[in-house]
Amino acid sequence: MEEIRNIVILTGAGVSAESGIDTFRDAGGLWEQHRVEDVATPEAFARDPDLVLRFYDMRREAIQTKVPNPAHEALARLDAEWPGELLIVTQNVDDLHERAGAKRLIHMHGDHLNAWCTACDARMPWTGPLLDRPACPACGAGGTLRPDIVWFGEMPYRMDEIYHALTQADLFVSIGTSGAVYPAAGFVREARQSGARTLELNMEPSQGSYWFAEARHGPAGVLVPAWVEEVLGR
Ligand code: OAD
Repeated sequence: MEEIRNIVILTGAGVSAESGIDTFRDAGGLWEQHRVEDVATPEAFARDPDLVLRFYDMRREAIQTKVPNPAHEALARLDAEWPGELLIVTQNVDDLHERAGAKRLIHMHGDHLNAWCTACDARMPWTGPLLDRPACPACGAGGTLRPDIVWFGEMPYRMDEIYHALTQADLFVSIGTSGAVYPAAGFVREARQSGARTLELNMEPSQGSYWFAEARHGPAGVLVPAWVEEVLGR
């Protein structure tokens, strides 16, 4: 580990599974219960905003009852103690990484606990429902707030910063993601091209497992604390 200085970590739904938040593609996962095209596209929101707002109101309420698990806690510890560059890029829209204490964090798919005003472009913390069409606290417009979530067909956030970090990475670690959704699924190849070591920590081989130099399979709540211990104890 001596030559590792810059670490980029990608997390997905699997890192929050042991906190009781459903993943998307596991058996019984969210995309078995709801069709992506009904709740997670701009077209769905235009067609049936109540359905979409109700779905996200339920999810927003649910995540506030969950707590970080040992995987979030270990990553927060690594963030606090790692002396080199480190970036945690999460596809998750829950706030469990930050509640565990992580600071060097990008929510590339948005944040459940934010609302976004499509009239004035303000983003603001939001814990309550949006279905009742509250006025935007920033500009006063009515009916213009939407979940600050990146839907299918929309551009993930802060991609320039993420790609820059990937080109600088000595180690890229992917945790709890199926590797089914781009651009995140392509990060491992970007990192490899820049010469980074690559490690997958996931319950099972992901769709992109082939691209990782090393893979460990099991629950994130066990694998991640053990890996962080290794890295910090180097
Ligand atoms: P998925 O549901 O596609 O994949 C979750 C992965 O976590 C699977 O490979 C599981 O095997 C693994 N897993 C489940 N429980 C685990 C545990 N306890 N420990 C470790 N691994 C575990 O979720 P994502 O890959 O995050 O996008 O999905 C990517 C994106 O697709 C999401 O951000 C979301 C979704 O549609 C948007 O909503 C834009």
